[in-house]
Amino acid sequence: MSTPSQVIERIRKEMGSRLAIVGHHYQADEIIQHADITGDSLELSRKVAELEAEYIVFCGVYFMAESAAILRRENQKVFLPDTTATCAMAEMATADNVDKTLEMLSAGGRRIIPLTYVNSTAAVKTVVGRWGGTVCTSANAQTMMRWAMDQGDAILFLPDRHLGWNTGDVLGIPESERFILDRGLIDGDPKLFVDAQAASKAKLILWPGFCPIHEEFVLREVERIRKEEPEAKIIVHPECPPEVTSAADANGSTSFIIKYVEEAAPGTKIYVATETNLVHRLAKRYRNVKVIEPLQISYCEDMGKITEANLAALLEHIEEAEPVDVTEEVREHSKVALETMLNVCA
Ligand code: 13P
Ligand code: SF4
Repeated sequence: MSTPSQVIERIRKEMGSRLAIVGHHYQADEIIQHADITGDSLELSRKVAELEAEYIVFCGVYFMAESAAILRRENQKVFLPDTTATCAMAEMATADNVDKTLEMLSAGGRRIIPLTYVNSTAAVKTVVGRWGGTVCTSANAQTMMRWAMDQGDAILFLPDRHLGWNTGDVLGIPESERFILDRGLIDGDPKLFVDAQAASKAKLILWPGFCPIHEEFVLREVERIRKEEPEAKIIVHPECPPEVTSAADANGSTSFIIKYVEEAAPGTKIYVATETNLVHRLAKRYRNVKVIEPLQISYCEDMGKITEANLAALLEHIEEAEPVDVTEEVREHSKVALETMLNVCA
């Protein structure tokens, strides 16, 4: 009897260039070893938009497969081995709440440009596209925030308040010009939770969402390492809380983190604050050369839902499997929002 790993490799060989397996950096090694393409969210959206393969199997979470489905060509189908693999942060902003919030914030006559992190549903990207906004990833948040600033009077950045705040820090947007919307907005009625009057002076209005995996990282740990191992470097993902991000030596997307570790001098010790699968992969890749350790252990359970077993099962029945797709109505505006980002950052 073949193992799931053997099944995956046999089908990859049989299907050849008709199949592309795409893996985000947070996937476990057992999945990454089968991927044709790996990358951070920006790299993957760029590469997926150029793929010729008929069958695109996304090893990541739902919003990533949905973005691929928005950008896919007519003859392509996109699959996710476990469609319950969602993103807790993406679910913190619903299309209806975003739309109502934009209406309330714009009521005074200001032109509010929504800028959504790619970690959001296709329905949210559609609303953002309809309001003349666009998308960003953690790799291009600064460029896209500058772009959005030039389009209107203020930005509604969503759903990740930490990425929005940390990017505001880099761009030098004064704190007095930033405003974080009430947390109740995440699952409540926008009318009760949007203080449009208070937000009316802000240039950067932040949705109150966050990534529960990166929310785990605390300043206390950074301070402990600074005291005990002053030589060690600390690098973090910008989804981490601002007090952690600003105390670190550097912050950036998963690709930035990989590059930072790659370029560090032999013998360097680096603590990394991001999803643990990636940190362990880096630790393994550079063992005996550099010391790479997680700042704290924090796994994304949804990313972990993709296994060799469900990848093999999908590939065995790919002809009958249900692809991830979006309606034409959703595609129309969400595609414009995504393509604006790809064009601005070409
Ligand atoms: P990047 O791939 O942009 O670094 O994003 C990290 C992430 O949380 C993906 O879910
Ligand atoms: Fe979402 Fe955070 Fe998991 Fe990325 S790591 S998929 S942002 S919950």
